[in-house]
Amino acid sequence: MSIPIGAVISVMGVEVAVKAFENSNHETHFHGGKRYKGISIREFIAIEHGFREIVCTVEGEFLDEKNYETEGTIKTFTRKLKVKPIGYFEDGAFKDGIKFLPKIGDIARLLSEEQVSNIFERNTVESYIIGKLLKEELAVSLPWGRLFNSHLGIFGNTGSGKSNTLTKLYTVLFDNKIEAMGGRSKFVFLDFNGEYTGNQLASENHKRVIRLKTRTDDGDKFVLHEDEFWDAETLGILFQATANTQRPFLRRVTSGRKRFANIPNSLNTYLRKTFRNVLTSSDPNLEALELLKTLARNVTYDQGLMDSLGKVARQSGNNTSTFHHVIGPGDWRFLANDDNFYNSEFEVKLNNINLSEVSGFNELLIRSTLQVIRDVLSGSAQYDHINPLLRRIEALKSDFSRVLSVVDSVEVDPKLITVISLRECKQEVKKILPILIAKHHYEQHKAVVGSPPTTTLHLVIDEAHNILSQQSNREAESWKDYRLELFEEIVKEGRKFGVFITLASQRPADISPTIVSQLHNYFIHRLVNDRDLALLENTISTLDSVSRSQIPSLPQGACVVTGTTFDIPMLMQIDKLPANREPDSGDVQLDQIWGD
Ligand SMILES: Nc1ncnc2c1ncn2[C@@H]1O[C@H](COP(=O)(O)OP(=O)(O)OP(=O)(O)O)[C@@H](O)[C@H]1O
Ligand SMILES: [Mg+2]
Repeated sequence: MSIPIGAVISVMGVEVAVKAFENSNHETHFHGGKRYKGISIREFIAIEHGFREIVCTVEGEFLDEKNYETEGTIKTFTRKLKVKPIGYFEDGAFKDGIKFLPKIGDIARLLSEEQVSNIFERNTVESYIIGKLLKEELAVSLPWGRLFNSHLGIFGNTGSGKSNTLTKLYTVLFDNKIEAMGGRSKFVFLDFNGEYTGNQLASENHKRVIRLKTRTDDGDKFVLHEDEFWDAETLGILFQATANTQRPFLRRVTSGRKRFANIPNSLNTYLRKTFRNVLTSSDPNLEALELLKTLARNVTYDQGLMDSLGKVARQSGNNTSTFHHVIGPGDWRFLANDDNFYNSEFEVKLNNINLSEVSGFNELLIRSTLQVIRDVLSGSAQYDHINPLLRRIEALKSDFSRVLSVVDSVEVDPKLITVISLRECKQEVKKILPILIAKHHYEQHKAVVGSPPTTTLHLVIDEAHNILSQQSNREAESWKDYRLELFEEIVKEGRKFGVFITLASQRPADISPTIVSQLHNYFIHRLVNDRDLALLENTISTLDSVSRSQIPSLPQGACVVTGTTFDIPMLMQIDKLPANREPDSGDVQLDQIWGD
């Protein structure tokens, strides 16, 4: 039996008061050759209750006055502890939950270090150690099986140690398990700052790094299968299409392509027919003419065609109007009823344009422009609504073609870990591409996974506020909804398919509360902003008030670990990774730059 330190004097619901004995306020106690930590806030004590020991955490302590009447009045004080039961020891094993409550008079004792580590670590067979208890300084083994079978959130202000924690979690996992994982799991790290492209996480044999670059042509590419690219939803993501008009438009583009996929030269035919429809129409449309000009200028770069188009003008009179072709002063031809002329001036030139090699983004621009023209002619779409989409395709196509490649057969990547670095991508691409990458992996996984899942996909996103922020006034509502919906779906449904996400972010309050509240386990580093703290309080049901109150003052690398996998919140100091394996945070070393 360990050292008795007090006796229960009141039990009010789950609030228990213990009157402490005189010996109780030493920092450390020794008894029977074992070390015991003295009582203070957030430590554990055990209350003897029959043959069980009820484990309580100390939530507060205070002094109570007591008056003696002898000669005059003497005031003395007794130390009282406010404690809360959290579980109990039965046959030496810790069980959580309040099943038993103490009675008045029960004796409270200190817990040995061994018992304390017993509270936190259940699985002693396989150890998975990433740090120590902050106060007790005991290494604890986390139940990795239940941890990686859940969505994780790592939050904390900048520099509080999130990236280190995230990397440590996975480094230890890979160090222990990587050989056993092959072929059954896939880990995708979205790396916004290029922090994981070196020796981190695992060796090169298991890890593939994709460095996406929009500034230069020498970056790696994210590979998409043709069928996945020519999909209205994919294109909608890439070009932030609005749901009501632009998305249906993209659907018309992709289904049109599909319909003629097996016919040779179908794109050229489509081009020629569209030119003819516009130029020989008896109801000439100037918008359509302008679109033909942009097409000739931006895509086919055909000077002869551009010159011919430059001479087309609309002529009206006698209640009719048509396009005519100005050859010189007083010399012009109607295009509508002069087939020979039309053929020699346009058809021949169009016929010579080789579109068989064009693919990916250029093909998309051609097809979309042709589709707009058709829609404008048939009055089925409003040019004003579609035009912004075309402009976005034009503006983004060169950036995207540097980071995406569209192919007709994709090789399966045998490596367990994929790190996708977006460090050298433009802001716009940084925001859009991760959505596509997440969707790609999620859907691929969903398509092949069995039930119950025998394979898993783990999406790890450091700096998740980059893509999951709730407020952004620079983007359209519908796009924002789409972006969040995808991740909300992964968070809500993913578990069924064996898809798990890990998010790290500086500002949990900026991330959609639906997402934050559906995570299962949290590693919360120092956070000082009230909004963030309030959000955590409202969304994390397992966070108790004592642990919460410590969040603003946690030291670097320390965090509150809480969630469904853990019975009780614990304060941990995560081990710092060795320099060669820690994330490249790219800290400026001023003493080196400015030193001699
Ligand atoms: N567990 C730890 N123990 C000791 N020092 C740590 C620990 N974790 C991180 N640090 C120190 O804090 C610095 C910042 O850590 P880290 O990059 O993990 O923070 P972060 O929260 O990811 O910051 P940011 O939001 O800026 O990405 C590291 O360079 C390291 O020196
Ligand atoms: Mg970081």
